[in-house]
Amino acid sequence: MITVMHIVGARPNFMKAAPVLRAMREKGGFSQTLLHTGQHYDRNMSQVFFEELGLPQPDINLEVGSDSHAVQTAKIMQRFEPVAKELSPDWVLVYGDVNSTLACALVCSKLLIRVGHVEAGLRSYDRSMPEEINRLLVDQISDVLFTPSRDAGENLLGEGVSGARIQFVGNVMIDTLKHLKQRAEQRWEGLCRRLGLGRYILVTLHRPTNVDHPDRLKALLRALNEVAADIEVLLPIHPRTQSRIDEYGLSPLLSAVRLLEPVGYLDFLALQSHASLVVTDSGGMQEETTFLGVPCLTVRPGTERPVTLEQGTNRLFNAHPHLLSGEIKHRLSEPRIERRPPELWDGRSAIRIAEILAEA
Ligand code: UD1
Ligand code: UDP
Repeated sequence: MITVMHIVGARPNFMKAAPVLRAMREKGGFSQTLLHTGQHYDRNMSQVFFEELGLPQPDINLEVGSDSHAVQTAKIMQRFEPVAKELSPDWVLVYGDVNSTLACALVCSKLLIRVGHVEAGLRSYDRSMPEEINRLLVDQISDVLFTPSRDAGENLLGEGVSGARIQFVGNVMIDTLKHLKQRAEQRWEGLCRRLGLGRYILVTLHRPTNVDHPDRLKALLRALNEVAADIEVLLPIHPRTQSRIDEYGLSPLLSAVRLLEPVGYLDFLALQSHASLVVTDSGGMQEETTFLGVPCLTVRPGTERPVTLEQGTNRLFNAHPHLLSGEIKHRLSEPRIERRPPELWDGRSAIRIAEILAEA
């Protein structure tokens, strides 16, 4: 039996870990433990995904909650170390680029527990992003680097990582999307009726560079409110963004925008699939829209996911926020282009990971 511990903590980890747990369960020969750090803890940022993605309840929850980067990362390390020592699994799998990913990888590297990084090698080349620091460090200390795209492998080789540590497996988030697309579609009619939806754009914003600066957030919200005069704007709001809007007193700017609580995976997938346009700064949504063929405008100066620009439906928006409403209207008027999904975004990435670890 190969013992594997999976680490999850924040919203985007759940959809990445779920297919890997399933693939290992179906393949057999693995004894699996699921550890939740508790980085995200609201029901609609955590528990709802366990229910909808078929994830087992976590065996361990470190319940760290929110804090500054240093305190949150340190708390996870402190609480994780005795667990890792006691269980001492053959492998720890960490996902993505959040603080939980780094904290647990670092603990394991000192305990000489082998670490596999799922979604390795992505680089925005912008070190002002906390996620970029996490990605760089996790890739340095992980034993196996499971990459979602060819560019990720090239980034790693460029940093001097040995090719023997790199495994191009494709995108596990797309495994989840393909697995649940039909179930999401079955909910569409009910959802559409409940929300009274016609044509709409779907917006999410949560990057500190967009939401932690009052002037920038104000300008972005103004632009969205302006667009809402022409087309419905749905804004499922991340708790970070909600707390900044409250702190800066910006709610009156959103009079025409439809604010929603964070949405569960299935309804959210249905909302993405039927949107006329997605406007976001999310990492995962750039990939999901590319796979779905839905136009996406990413409100960031760059992306660690260049295949979504080169082969997908994604475009970057890096101009002044007061130009955002014009750009949205422009994108809405463009014809859609049919594209094929990027290489190995085929729903079998988690199976490849299970096969590689079974042989390692
Ligand atoms: C984190 C990740 C980011 C990821 C995002 C996904 C890091 C450094 N950042 O950002 O890469 O894109 O998750 O959603 O790991 N909060 C709640 N309830 C919750 C969780 C958070 O109210 O369940 C609020 C708290 O006020 C907290 C703030 O959101 O301070 C930020 O949470 P945190 O996990 O620190 O960072 P995110 O912005 O969520
Ligand atoms: N998502 C969701 N409900 C929402 C917003 C996002 O289920 O209200 C899903 C989205 O489809 C994707 C994942 O959450 O699968 C992305 O997480 P997030 O944007 O929080 O993090 P990032 O990818 O930017 O790290």
